[in-house]
Amino acid sequence: MQEINWSELSFGYMPTDVNVRCEFKDGKWGDVYTCEDPYINVHMAATGLHYGQEAFEGMKAFQGKDGKVRVFRMDENFKRLKNSCEGILMADLPWDKFENAIMTVIKENKRFIPPYGHGASLYIRPLIFGSGAQVGVKPSSEYMFVVFVTPVGPYFKEGFKPTSLMITREFDRAAPQGTGTLKVGGNYAASLRSGQLAKENGYSAVLFLDAKEKKYIDECGPANFFGIKNNTYITPKSPSILPSITNMSLQVLAKELGMEVEVRPIPVEELDTFEEVGACGTAAVISPVGSIMDYENKKEYKYGTEAGEKSTLLYEKLKRIQNGEEEDKWDWTFLV
Ligand code: PLP
Ligand code: COI
Repeated sequence: MQEINWSELSFGYMPTDVNVRCEFKDGKWGDVYTCEDPYINVHMAATGLHYGQEAFEGMKAFQGKDGKVRVFRMDENFKRLKNSCEGILMADLPWDKFENAIMTVIKENKRFIPPYGHGASLYIRPLIFGSGAQVGVKPSSEYMFVVFVTPVGPYFKEGFKPTSLMITREFDRAAPQGTGTLKVGGNYAASLRSGQLAKENGYSAVLFLDAKEKKYIDECGPANFFGIKNNTYITPKSPSILPSITNMSLQVLAKELGMEVEVRPIPVEELDTFEEVGACGTAAVISPVGSIMDYENKKEYKYGTEAGEKSTLLYEKLKRIQNGEEEDKWDWTFLV
């Protein structure tokens, strides 16, 4: 195997040894099996290809200083996947198949788990899609579940250095009563053009506003938004945001660190009042935000060139739990 430079990894795809699959046919899920082929033979009329019947998840496994490998909160990813499946009428997978697939794919790709201390982790990507043929707009009667892994570094190239965001009212990611709370492929398709616009202008992601009134902070590219002021961690309440498991965890840790937590609508103007701002998610971990450009209003909000004190405390605490260096009081980690 080619040597992997663990410290230089970015958030990208690298081939590994095997992926794991399970298929739903004739009203039931089959056995979980491993596969070396990264390609999938799919029917051209599969609903996943035409009507976006597809949902995915993202989680990470970490190798600790003690050599043990821990997966962070995979039970929550399972619940969210189940919710996504229900939301777009796909067959949902039982926990035992999910757990078996995740554990198998990690064990079978052991040599790709980044060692402790390089800031890298093993990204786990489960997905389910409608694999049966339909031409009318209706759910498939067949589904395929696949899990692959790939070693990754930071999602935003700055890592734990502040990155910059852009607000634009030109695009929406999801509608209030649409699929924004589900982790379905269509939401990501809807975010591609605005994401490209942000990158072309030198920003790492779009900070979306609520689609109905364009007054409140919504999703933060492929992550959730949080702001900190007066010892309070504040994150948006919205019907079009993906409930981030990282965000959920940070709210618990913020309380542990003696902070208040508020989940409520955040008006755009409130950006002027935050001491620290960040994006959080499995891929993004915590990405401190140094500046936000409101594109249409030509107004820039600035938060400094270094990660803030509270964001750093939260980041360190989260990482220590993920790496097994701090007591996991809430049973968040699953040993492989
Ligand atoms: N929001 C979006 C749109 C995402 O794609 C993700 C990534 O999964 C998140 C938020 C963060 O969620 P989590 O912390 O569960 O990874
Ligand atoms: C994640 O954080 O796991 C994501 O899914 C974000 C993105 C890579 C789609």
